[in-house]
Amino acid sequence: MVKEQNIIELHNITVSFDGETVLDDLDLSIKDGEFVTFLGASGCGKTTTLRVIAGFISPDHGDVFFDGARINDLPPHKRQVNTIFQRYALFPHLNVFDNVAFGLKVAGMKKDQIKEKVEEMLELVNMRAFAQRKIHNLSGGQQQRVAIARALVNNPRVLLLDEPLAALDYKLRKDMQNELKRIQRQTGITFIFVTHDQEEALSMSDTVVVMNEGKIQQIGSPTKIYNEPENAFVADFIGESNIIDGVMLDDFKVRLDGRAFKCLDKGFAVNEPVDVVIRPEDVDIVSPEKGELTGEVSSITFKGDYYEMIVDVCGFKWMVQATDEQLVGAKVGLVIEPDAIHIMKKSKYSGMFGDYSTFSTEMDEMEEEARLEEERLEEEAAQEEKGDE
Ligand SMILES: Nc1ncnc2c1ncn2[C@@H]1O[C@H](COP(=O)(O)OP(=O)(O)O)[C@@H](O)[C@H]1O
Ligand SMILES: [Mg+2]
Repeated sequence: MVKEQNIIELHNITVSFDGETVLDDLDLSIKDGEFVTFLGASGCGKTTTLRVIAGFISPDHGDVFFDGARINDLPPHKRQVNTIFQRYALFPHLNVFDNVAFGLKVAGMKKDQIKEKVEEMLELVNMRAFAQRKIHNLSGGQQQRVAIARALVNNPRVLLLDEPLAALDYKLRKDMQNELKRIQRQTGITFIFVTHDQEEALSMSDTVVVMNEGKIQQIGSPTKIYNEPENAFVADFIGESNIIDGVMLDDFKVRLDGRAFKCLDKGFAVNEPVDVVIRPEDVDIVSPEKGELTGEVSSITFKGDYYEMIVDVCGFKWMVQATDEQLVGAKVGLVIEPDAIHIMKKSKYSGMFGDYSTFSTEMDEMEEEARLEEERLEEEAAQEEKGDE
């Protein structure tokens, strides 16, 4: 159960390495008992944020609170926080039982108490029958379970999980996602989970924190993040999105591609430029006469339970997912219902995402490089011509 009070608060946290800002004025509250996920691409600052919470990094600015008390100066071992890393760092020469018992032995706990506690933890992760096994005789998933048992055995209030599933294959990963959810619910311990996988974040979390370039882009429930992305970065990062330039004509009315559409958003200035997000599954394909917009199908891919097509509307490439097959080159109409339209404020990410000419920025960069190369060659040819005169 998620409780009302915050267990962790970060206030204005800034961290830099070698003059480079890695966390930029982070503000975040985490509730006691919550399953929170930090989601973002590699290098955006997820691990650094965990290390600030665990106490391995002191921020340049800002404060860390635990249960309402400032803990900036509290060393890691005194914080009620444990971490599970991607490499579980188990002791290879010890068996499962002794791996889990290790910390308790060091802390001087009595033998029978240790036995009771370790067995309880092995039960929790379904590894009781494996107590005497050597670590190197375990599968990846089983090792992970031991790592979880070891991290929970001394009753931390918060467990930090830094991409713990990244090394597992797809099916095992699904199983461990369910297991982690179950263990979190069963113990009620606050989990702060890190991943760069958006599907994983959406399916596991009470709250998702979307990060980019050391900044929090949005904090919210999975449905909120998906249905109401705050800016073009979040819309693009979470699922597929067509992001089109629009202008708010009035409350509940937006113009895009020269046409007015009804929407459910209000509170923008009249004629305010906005970014309009429309998910591929929310576009209906109809005959061209019936379409609010018309376009030409430029590619189509069979995806199993739907077709994914790219539709060129006045030079902008929309992604549309539909159950009916279309032919490449076919003229089609698009219909978009008001609740399929989501309006976002313009941001520094406007214009960077949401056109499906290409899927990756790498392709965009290659095209840009090819274009520059062509310009250079033309320039050279022009120079040569000049020289010949
Ligand atoms: N100890 C360090 N010294 C210098 N740079 C670092 C250090 N730790 C992380 N960084 C840099 O900080 C940025 C964020 O890193 P990190 O928090 O590990 O990102 P993530 O976990 O999201 O992949 C990266 O650019 C990384 O290279
Ligand atoms: Mg990391």
